[in-house]
Amino acid sequence: MACLSPSQLKKFQEDGFLLLEEFLTEDECVAMQQRIGEIVAEMDVPLHCRTEFSTQEDEQLRNQGSTEYFLSSGDKIRFFFEKGVFDKKGNFLVPPEKSINKIGHVSPHQDATFLYTEPLGRVLGVWIAMEDALLENGCLWFIPGSHTRGVSRRMIRAPAGTSFLGSEPAWDNNLFVPLPVRRGGLVLIHGEVVHKSEQNLSNHSRQAYTFHLMEAAAGTVWSPENWLQPTTELPFPPLYV
Ligand code: FE2
Repeated sequence: MACLSPSQLKKFQEDGFLLLEEFLTEDECVAMQQRIGEIVAEMDVPLHCRTEFSTQEDEQLRNQGSTEYFLSSGDKIRFFFEKGVFDKKGNFLVPPEKSINKIGHVSPHQDATFLYTEPLGRVLGVWIAMEDALLENGCLWFIPGSHTRGVSRRMIRAPAGTSFLGSEPAWDNNLFVPLPVRRGGLVLIHGEVVHKSEQNLSNHSRQAYTFHLMEAAAGTVWSPENWLQPTTELPFPPLYV
């Protein structure tokens, strides 16, 4: 298995993110996109579960907080949708395959807001571009070095769903740097680095595959207040033992 070089590791530690170009081949991206296409084609989302995804606080509490669909999404394939894809009755306004979020834009946040551990620094995001993700179609943006300042807010489980502790600072837009990624590139994202993506207003889709890892070293505690919890049917799968 390939390892990070000392200079790559240093860059990740300084910036809080790192691009590994050509992590997947064209063929591997095509195969993954095909499988994702099948899953989306087969998706059958009950009307009351048609949840629009948002990292914005007020919308989040309204849409996701009280939603069992969201809180139990850890061990299942769940679908989160872009804003404006449903009419008032929950019918699709756009073709379902074009409606999925997590492929769309995300407001500035730290992953640790949602995936909190003690100590901090044990969560790593993995983000793989299935298609070119460039300036014009919603690539990721980061504030380099912002991972060293702790966590500004946390989303926790509450009796009515979820609520927030702390608040997201008004991040200076000028501090963000874009990270264009060619198809097959992989981005490592430190759990506390501030990042976002802009809305994709181009005609080019920007599919990405993303997941998170927790370093389950001795003493790491996955906060029992996190919205996402392992279940008995499917505990968080260990990557290696
Ligand atoms: Fe994120």
